[in-house]
Amino acid sequence: ARQDSAGLYRVTQRVAQAEILPGLRTEILGYDGIFPGPTFETRRGRPVVVRHRNELPVPTVVHLHGGHTPHEHDGWPLDLVLPVGNTREWRTHHGTGTRTEGERDYRYPMAQRAATLWYHDHRMDFTGPAVYRGLAGFHLVRDDEEDQLPLPRDDRELPLMICDRAFEEDGSFAYPALDEEMRSVPGVRNDWMEGVLGDVVLVNGAPWPVHEVDAARYRLRLLNASNARRYRLELSVPGGPNLPMTQIGSDGGLLAAPVTHQSIELAPGERFDVVVDFSRVLVGTEVTMVNGLGSGGTANVLRFHVVRTARDDSRVPDRLSEIEPLTPNPGAPTRTFRFTRGPVGDHRGWTINGTSFAPGSSLADSKLGEVETWRLITDVHHPVHVHLDPFQVLRRDGRAPGKLDGGWKDTVDIRPAEVVDIAVRFTDYAGKFVMHCHNLEHEDMAMMATIRTV
Ligand code: C2O
Ligand code: CU
Ligand code: CU
Repeated sequence: ARQDSAGLYRVTQRVAQAEILPGLRTEILGYDGIFPGPTFETRRGRPVVVRHRNELPVPTVVHLHGGHTPHEHDGWPLDLVLPVGNTREWRTHHGTGTRTEGERDYRYPMAQRAATLWYHDHRMDFTGPAVYRGLAGFHLVRDDEEDQLPLPRDDRELPLMICDRAFEEDGSFAYPALDEEMRSVPGVRNDWMEGVLGDVVLVNGAPWPVHEVDAARYRLRLLNASNARRYRLELSVPGGPNLPMTQIGSDGGLLAAPVTHQSIELAPGERFDVVVDFSRVLVGTEVTMVNGLGSGGTANVLRFHVVRTARDDSRVPDRLSEIEPLTPNPGAPTRTFRFTRGPVGDHRGWTINGTSFAPGSSLADSKLGEVETWRLITDVHHPVHVHLDPFQVLRRDGRAPGKLDGGWKDTVDIRPAEVVDIAVRFTDYAGKFVMHCHNLEHEDMAMMATIRTV
């Protein structure tokens, strides 16, 4: 991301043309006109200011996902940045928040540990189409603790934004019913009630890419930035066993100790930070990242071509960090949230505890500093995301958390009819925040709750 001499980051949101499919042009909504948007690299303890200028035809809201950010700068879904010179009465079904014309600053304290964050649009009712058309980018937070570890770095650290898209024949994105007015007509949304899926997987905006690697360790920061698709990623080697992935971090940064996986399931919004050792295969090998949950164009994600032997001083230490286990405070509330389909005929579609997003009434008033238990219950798959602070998974269906649940999480995949308990603790900032499903169509159909921190 570009920083001016005063240290201010500047991003211009604009319509641009990208060549995503060979020989075709795709109109995107891009931060700085690119998809993914520019990658931020910031440091713990050094606050940053990002000035977003909106040259798009629609209002936007910027949210730093995983950011420990006060309410005013968190991207409250009704706090709109209006298009430059276009101040028509933009409405939502959910009232209004602040409106800033043309551009505004988002201030991020960055008082948080190193982690893979990402930023994306968060406007109420329209997050799905906005992100689908390109409004998403990486924001990597670094710190001394992580820098001191001998992990793969520089060219051997690859942030991978994975998302699926569908295209029209002329190369444009095929998102159902993009028209703003149509979207508010009851019933129209039924087409994408379950979430919008594409038939092509993109990695950092490119379909089915090949990346040349040394026979050495690489750090892959996996992000599922899809609107609704889940993946089961594996590294397949022709004629041999899969390459294992050693997880070193989750949504909220380093794990206490590495965990080795043969496959990783990733719901929308989740990040997994893994180290892969390509020296375990012969030079010349093509290692394919496949998606065990896909078929056809969504079964393959990308290819690594191992091209040369090379020196490698990196390793994955047995101890990575210290994770303070969150233990619910005696007497702190246990809250139950049910994520379910709304009543038939309600175009808002999805609900939490039977209600759709109501900005003015919170579903929980949580005391800062107190550890609460939240019980999340779903009908179908819902990746549940909480703003402001990461949480820890306590139990799945009364049993110990799964192998993929370790460390600090901010998005947790709840499977059909599952009950997941998480330990939640908000800190520092009193105000209104949201919890929502990160299936972006569910989110747009109001599967979102106001949480007030007090
Ligand atoms: Cu990644 Cu509230 O969102
Ligand atoms: Cu978020
Ligand atoms: Cu959902």
